[in-house]
Formats: sequence, structure tokens, C-alpha cells
Amino acid sequence: MSEKWLTGTVIENRPWTETLFSLRVEGAPLKYQAGQFVRIALDINGERVARAFSFVNPPQDPVLEFYGVIVPEGPLSPRLAKLKSGDALHVAGNPAGFLVLSEVPDAETLWLISTGTGLAPFLSILRTETPWRRFRNVVLVHAVRHARELTYQDLIRSTRARYVTFVSREQAAGSLAGRIPAAIADGRLETAAGVKLAPESSQVMLCGNPQMLKDVAAALVVRGLRKHRRRAPGHITVESFW
Ligand SMILES: Cc1cc2nc3c(=O)[nH]c(=O)nc-3n(C[C@H](O)[C@H](O)[C@H](O)COP(=O)(O)OP(=O)(O)OC[C@H]3O[C@@H](n4cnc5c(N)ncnc54)[C@H](O)[C@@H]3O)c2cc1C
Ligand SMILES: NC(=O)c1ccc[n+]([C@@H]2O[C@H](COP(=O)([O-])OP(=O)(O)OC[C@H]3O[C@@H](n4cnc5c(N)ncnc54)[C@H](OP(=O)(O)O)[C@@H]3O)[C@@H](O)[C@H]2O)c1
Repeated sequence: MSEKWLTGTVIENRPWTETLFSLRVEGAPLKYQAGQFVRIALDINGERVARAFSFVNPPQDPVLEFYGVIVPEGPLSPRLAKLKSGDALHVAGNPAGFLVLSEVPDAETLWLISTGTGLAPFLSILRTETPWRRFRNVVLVHAVRHARELTYQDLIRSTRARYVTFVSREQAAGSLAGRIPAAIADGRLETAAGVKLAPESSQVMLCGNPQMLKDVAAALVVRGLRKHRRRAPGHITVESFW
């Protein structure tokens, strides 16, 4: 069966740093849930090169937004970063993914934990009504190498989320140092968020670097949380970016 593609038009390419960018795309109407992703593509040397990207915008917003990092040796991301207003972007017709609140059991506190561009799906989720209706506390954690990579701060601060940041490769006032798993183990993450991270009260969604997913999940297991599965409900729902 041939895949269905839509062709949208880039209306903005916002550079945040020399490697981080956000694309806004119109003219590709799709149905999906906040937290899902879709494949976006460019035709390069006669071949369609497609990669998964999470929606940043909430589903009710008809302009699609994607948040990317340039992987210098990657075939697609450096080209996406160069797109200009008016350029075409192909968008697959079949959004997918399980990093969605409809897969997550109820709890007192929802933890949304990300590294790098793994922030993207949580920006979509934060701009829907569901987290605020279902969870008393929502904590957004964003870990980056450098403080300038703490993007979308105004948007995040406009929500009611408790916002905790990590900067790992320089000193940054207002951010925790080091990596998330260590801060779970020694209690710094809970202190910064002002809520407990315990199996009785918490659901955790993780997105980004695959090794971070493993290391954070291991730190959470020590705390008594376990992977969530439809048939064996738990507390941890993950999406790996590579
Ligand atoms: C479900 C899903 C959702 C995704 N959503 C996003 C998104 O919203 N934003 C986004 O930038 N990427 C996202 N990705 C990654 C994206 O699909 C591409 O892999 C990425 O844009 C690089 O594409 P490329 O063709 O340049 O290099 P690729 O050949 O795809 O990747 C080369 C290498 O780059 C590294 N890499 C890939 N993606 C990232 C990343 N995001 N951050 C740091 N290192 C990376 C990995 O080491 C990977 O092996 C997602 C991936 C999956 C599976
Ligand atoms: N960010 C940049 O400056 C930059 C520049 C050029 C290209 N890129 C491209 O983007 C890729 C990486 O991008 P990125 O910086 O967004 O993502 P990243 O390497 O995943 O780093 C983001 C954050 O996740 C942390 N992290 C990494 N592994 C972890 C683990 N196992 N457990 C917990 N935390 C972990 C990092 O801490 P540590 O710092 O301790 O690793 C950092 O704070 C590179 O491979 C490169 O292709 C990035």
C-alpha cells in the first residue's frame, strides 16, 4: 500500500541557537493526540528522506510545529534547519505514538521528564486541558547541556507546571547541575519540584536520549516505580528519540 503524504508550507523557521530550531507548518491537517509524532520528509537527490518528529503544538491548533536539533552528520535535520518561509515540507498522513495521556493512569502528580528536543511532546500535552483536569501537580523537567538550550521558557512558564531545569555542561543559576538520575537518587529533583516522587502518587513520562530513558527508569525502579504496560499497570511511560 502506498503511503499517504500531505505537503505543507513552512511559515516560520525560528532558530533558538546555532543547532536548535522550530518549524511552523501550515496546510497539513491531521488528527492526533498531544504527545504523538508524525514523519516529516524532504526529497533529497530524488529520494524521500523521512524522520519522526513530535508535535509541539496542541492538536486543536491547525498550524503544526516541530522542534529540532541539527545532527551534523544526519541526512535530514541539517536540511530541515535551512528551510525558509514558503518552502514545502512533506508530512505523513498517519501520526502515531503511545506517549499520550490516554495511556497513563491517574495519579496525584504527573512528571514529564525530557532531555534536549525530547521536550517537544510535553509542550503539546501542557497546552491541552487533560493534565490540569486529571493531575493535582504537573512537573516539567528539561535537561540540556547548556543554559541557552532551555528553550520555550515563556510558554512553559505560562502554564501551571512546576518547571525544573538541568544544565549539565556549565554552571547555570536557577538550574540543577549534573544529570536527572543522580538528582532522583539524592532527592534534589523532589526538593526542586516541591513534590514527592513515589509510586503511590506519581506517573512519569520520559522522552529524549535513549540512555537517559534507561538510566532514569533504573533510578525510578529503585524508588519502587515500574514500567507501565496496558496489561500490567505501572508508573513509567517512555518514548525514545533514537
Ligand atoms: C518517535 C520519535 C520522535 C522524534 N521526535 C523528534 C523531535 O521532536 N525533534 C527532533 O529533533 N528529533 C526527533 N526525533 C529524532 C528524528 O526522527 C531524527 O532522528 C533527527 O531529526 C535526526 O535526523 P537525521 O536524519 O539528521 O539523523 P539520523 O540519521 O536520524 O540520526 C543520527 C543520530 O543523531 C542522533 N540524534 C537523532 N535525533 C536526535 C535528537 N533529537 N537529539 C539529539 N540527538 C539526536 C542519534 O545519535 C542518531 O543516531 C524523533 C525520533 C523518534 C523515533
Ligand atoms: N547540544 C549541543 O551543544 C549540540 C551541538 C551540536 C550538535 N548536537 C547534536 O545533538 C546531539 C546531542 O544533542 P543534545 O545536547 O540535545 O542531547 P543529549 O546529548 O541527549 O543531551 C541533553 C541532556 O541529556 C543529558 N544526558 C545525556 N545522557 C544522559 C543519561 N544517560 N542520563 C541522564 N541524562 C543524560 C545530557 O547530559 P551530559 O551533558 O552529562 O551528557 C544533557 O544534559 C549530538 O550528538 C549532536 O549530534 C548538539
